[in-house]
Amino acid sequence: MSTRDPVLKCEELVAGYGGPPIVRNVDLNIPGKQMMTLVGPNGAGKSTLLRAFYGLTRTYAGHILFEGQAIEKASPLQRYASGIAFVPQGRCNFDRMSVAENLAVAAHSVAVGKRAAALDYVLGLFPTLKPLMQSMAGNLSGGEQQLLEMAMVLQTHPKCLLVDEPSLGLSPGMQASVFEKLAELRDAGMTVVTVEQNVRVALAVSDRAAVLVHGEIAFEGPADEILADDRIRIAYLGGLPAGQAAH
Ligand SMILES: Nc1ncnc2c1ncn2[C@@H]1O[C@H](COP(=O)(O)OP(=O)(O)OP(=O)(O)O)[C@@H](O)[C@H]1O
Ligand SMILES: [Mg+2]
Repeated sequence: MSTRDPVLKCEELVAGYGGPPIVRNVDLNIPGKQMMTLVGPNGAGKSTLLRAFYGLTRTYAGHILFEGQAIEKASPLQRYASGIAFVPQGRCNFDRMSVAENLAVAAHSVAVGKRAAALDYVLGLFPTLKPLMQSMAGNLSGGEQQLLEMAMVLQTHPKCLLVDEPSLGLSPGMQASVFEKLAELRDAGMTVVTVEQNVRVALAVSDRAAVLVHGEIAFEGPADEILADDRIRIAYLGGLPAGQAAH
């Protein structure tokens, strides 16, 4: 495969939860080492599509390819082992355990001899967590918990990081710094796919964006073009005047 091939892609993907399809006939190419953000109205199927990439929803038809290999039949654990990591929406660390204990639990899938280096790597990425290692995860701020979520899965050095609504519930300053951190990961060579309601903050640092409406891709293209397109903004993103933040 050449470097121009997408790292993650789906072809005519139909996915759902056992009932009627939620995601319908989605074709999406996610180029390597780029950040793509999925946007669209509530209930459009953004989380369902992201979860489909990780094997958490049922693929009814079509294909999902990671580095050219069909993975739609692989379990989430197999996908994790192949280099895809998923951070679900909401704070889902173990709130009654310390930051260090949360990181240790998540390091379970890292070879024993590599765990110390994996911990060093994520604490290097998120130095904010260093002084908090003995703090109870549930006592961290929302932003710190979001960083902890990412640090937990990043210990395996994934090639592709999927993050659902990383800015949910965070202050505007913290939202921007979470996205700056995702951009840093992208700049270091990781492929990043996010779902985000805060369109302006997310698209400011994304390379590409896809607008999902009723389970189908309505538009896909460079993030700045999507953001600048009044038709897209008015029809699908709440019709905000240019320059105003979306929520
Ligand atoms: N676990 C589930 N089982 C059955 N249906 C579900 C499940 N999760 C979501 N759905 C349905 O799938 C549809 C799309 O939901 P999804 O969460 O993917 O949308 P979304 O675009 O992420 O919305 P939001 O912006 O509100 O997070 C909705 O109609 C929802 O009710
Ligand atoms: Mg969602």
